Amino acid sequence: MQVFQTVAELQRHLLNISQLGKKIAGFIPTMGALHEGHLSLIRTSKVKSDITVCSIFVNPTQFNDKKDFEKYPIQIDKDLEMLLEAHCDVVFVPTVEEIYPKGTLERTTVELGFIGKTLDGEHRPGHFEGVLQVVKRLLDIVQPDLLFLGQKDYQQCMVLSKLVEHYQLPVKVEICDTLREKDGLAMSSRNARLNPEERAVSAKLSQALFYIRDHIKEQPVPELIEQQLKLLSAEELIQVEYLTIVNGKTLEPVDLYQENTSLTALIAAKVGQVRLIDNVIIH
Ligand code: PAF
Repeated sequence: MQVFQTVAELQRHLLNISQLGKKIAGFIPTMGALHEGHLSLIRTSKVKSDITVCSIFVNPTQFNDKKDFEKYPIQIDKDLEMLLEAHCDVVFVPTVEEIYPKGTLERTTVELGFIGKTLDGEHRPGHFEGVLQVVKRLLDIVQPDLLFLGQKDYQQCMVLSKLVEHYQLPVKVEICDTLREKDGLAMSSRNARLNPEERAVSAKLSQALFYIRDHIKEQPVPELIEQQLKLLSAEELIQVEYLTIVNGKTLEPVDLYQENTSLTALIAAKVGQVRLIDNVIIH
């Protein structure tokens, strides 16, 4: 496994590899604090690509909350060990200056429309603009054939698919299933910040989503949401930002169950001070 900190070194290495013959490059962008979910993306990339590149960069421009950025877990040595064990080929660990040599203000021209305004777009103003900015830069640097993303960040997957479409980038977006802990909690770097009490109640988020998925045909949608919100609000440590069922392709809210529409249930909630998101595709 080779680790690079500069764009020039990374690109020289990738160029050397591609000169040896056409290789499929798979890319997994991360903010570090890696867990099994990230490793499963690495493993999928290892199966589908010749070269697997992973980046670790805590992107300051996608945090609308300064405290959230400051508290983002960092464990670079452990991350590198995990990547080595997962047989990742190349790791890119750039500095902020390396990613944003002209400063952090330049944004992409992608017009997200409704999918950028709703849910996390509404609750984390500027977040997706920052995600678009950093992933565009990373894709320009790495120029992968395949981009591996986790379904846990459902809206982010839609936003980044739009980025690829907007710039007609020659990269295929591969969305991989969410990995879960035994009690159903979606794996996330942020879980490391939960104290034992918070960790114990955090599984209630996915339980609400699974309940909704399993009972959506039996109860009117607003009633089902209301019932689950009530259960969650009974937990002192949980503060729900949104719990909703949307059209899985447009993110428009859905109030009436329709068998032939793609439907996804999504949640965002603070457990203590830690903001968690999760989703379940209903069909
Ligand atoms: O999902 C993440 O970890 C980040 O949003 C990403 C895609 C690495 C961009 O910083």
